[in-house]
Amino acid sequence: MNWLPRPAEGRAWVAPSVLSADFTRLESDLDNMTSAGADFLHLDVMDGHFVPNITFGPFICSALRKLSNLPLDAHLMISRPDKYLEQFAKSGIDGLTIHVEADAEISPTLARIGELGMKRGISLKPDTPLKDILPYLDQVDLILVMSVQPGFGGQKFNPVAVQKIAELVRRRADEGFEFLINVDGGINGVSGPQCREVGADILVSGSWLFGAKNRSERVSVLRG
Ligand code: DX5
Ligand code: ZN
Repeated sequence: MNWLPRPAEGRAWVAPSVLSADFTRLESDLDNMTSAGADFLHLDVMDGHFVPNITFGPFICSALRKLSNLPLDAHLMISRPDKYLEQFAKSGIDGLTIHVEADAEISPTLARIGELGMKRGISLKPDTPLKDILPYLDQVDLILVMSVQPGFGGQKFNPVAVQKIAELVRRRADEGFEFLINVDGGINGVSGPQCREVGADILVSGSWLFGAKNRSERVSVLRG
């Protein structure tokens, strides 16, 4: 297990979304992003059913495991995450995040992810109210707040995520939880610092980081 604790006060970990990497030369592109200072790699798994797009599954996650020593955090945008937990565990990834809107029993699925030795994550879409994930706050290691409609990289940041992050920070302190707070979608030099300032621990960024001429400069802008 390869993972990171909460970042220092006022800082954030940076998690490039591999969706925006150049898959024709994945190894060198990821090495370059690692040298630029990436802390995690974010892997967007899509099934063409939960979201209107298809990406990759456990097979590619295993290949990514061989290409990188960074903590690998998979974001499952799939309708039946419960059916694939063993396969993802075998691929060697470190964290598995399911959507609260998925067609699965949430608590048992989270418990199984933990039993398989992975960090347990839950995510919610921009239109899903925070109250829908409150029953699971004591059962997760991370919460992934979506700031775009899941399915595609390169969309515009939805500021509804900022309020959700602030509310999660408050509840975590009041109720003594330990989860990390991730934010994903439309993160750039403006939205990233906004999320960090209200307490996001991990900033996921795809197109803005992979599209940069100077990646380490952009990683530093996000990290704070
Ligand atoms: C969207 C994915 C995101 C996406 C982020 O469904 O979950 O991780 O790749 O890409 P940008 O940063 O380009 O919005
Ligand atoms: Zn994602």
